[in-house]
Amino acid sequence: MQPKDPSPETQAKMQERAQRLTKRQYVRFAFYKVDPMWRRLPAEEQAAHKQELLDVIESFNRRMLLRPYSLIGTRADAELLLWQIAESPLPFRELASAIACTRMGSYLNMAHSYLSQTKRSIYEIRTAGAADEDEEERLVIDPTEAKYLFVYPFIKTREWYQLSQYARQGMMDEHIDVGRKYPSVRLNTTYSFGIDDYEFIVAFETDEPSDFLDLVQELRETSVSMYTLQDTPLFTCINMRLDEALDALGGPAIAKVLEPGAQDEIWMEVCPLDELGPGETKTVFLEGKMVGLFNVNGELFAINNRCTHARGPLTEGEVSAEACSVVCPWHYGKFDLRTGAAIDGVVNKPVDTYQVEVRDGLIYVGTTITYS
Ligand code: FES
Repeated sequence: MQPKDPSPETQAKMQERAQRLTKRQYVRFAFYKVDPMWRRLPAEEQAAHKQELLDVIESFNRRMLLRPYSLIGTRADAELLLWQIAESPLPFRELASAIACTRMGSYLNMAHSYLSQTKRSIYEIRTAGAADEDEEERLVIDPTEAKYLFVYPFIKTREWYQLSQYARQGMMDEHIDVGRKYPSVRLNTTYSFGIDDYEFIVAFETDEPSDFLDLVQELRETSVSMYTLQDTPLFTCINMRLDEALDALGGPAIAKVLEPGAQDEIWMEVCPLDELGPGETKTVFLEGKMVGLFNVNGELFAINNRCTHARGPLTEGEVSAEACSVVCPWHYGKFDLRTGAAIDGVVNKPVDTYQVEVRDGLIYVGTTITYS
């Protein structure tokens, strides 16, 4: 018997999903170095400069995912990294201009800057246990709390691109197999063909620098390594709160002193209540996470917008007002909007939930942070 064509509804769903999977994020790695003149300023001025810069950078938290890292002590030519992820490159320009307009901005040199995009790889992940989700995850950057980030730009030789797809896939299989031997190292590959000087910008997150060193050394022995034209400079970056990363630059401390285990409530204004009507959703960035807001029959809910299966965008899923749930648009895992619990489908881990309040007609989203 001839296999039946999928129904028109299924075909429409498949097409919609394929379109979603082409949606990309923009990524910027902005490395700064302080002019030594700044370190000779009076201490009060340094503190005021840092506080002003902190306030300006934090005011962009709502518009992009922003992660600060310090390179003091790990690299000579860069001291601060602002890792930025957004739906368009425009917020990057606005943030760069806003930083330049601060008093400290006139002492900050842009040491390196890399612009890239997420994109589905043309190579299949064919190792045992690999699934489509591994590739789909690459479309979405969702930084972890790992202590270290290793970043470098990457260019392959032109000979690589003359090889057949079959030959390249074979070598990539070997490369991917080596990567899988180091599960403590998480790779974020982004693409910069035509939008910056390189082909890829890669960023590895880990708590174990030794694992990253061993991984890179082992990758040198793979056949695909013969086709590397450039994979430097390499930046070792340390994950820190922004106030701490600014304090690492010098001057009197402005960072809050927090004992391990101390808790802090962070609230962010989102928008006027009438801009999020019943049935509508919105995303906002809070503490380095993309939060999805849902208005279900007038009641507001906030959950991490990244599905725990393969980071699908939950605000783009189907909401059931009756069940107070959302179905992920990528592989149809279902979550309870009240508790974040995974309640159906391929998902088995809950998503984080956030507090939502309406104050004077404005929606606020909040979370409690425990410092380690
Ligand atoms: S990403 Fe697979 S179910 Fe959400």
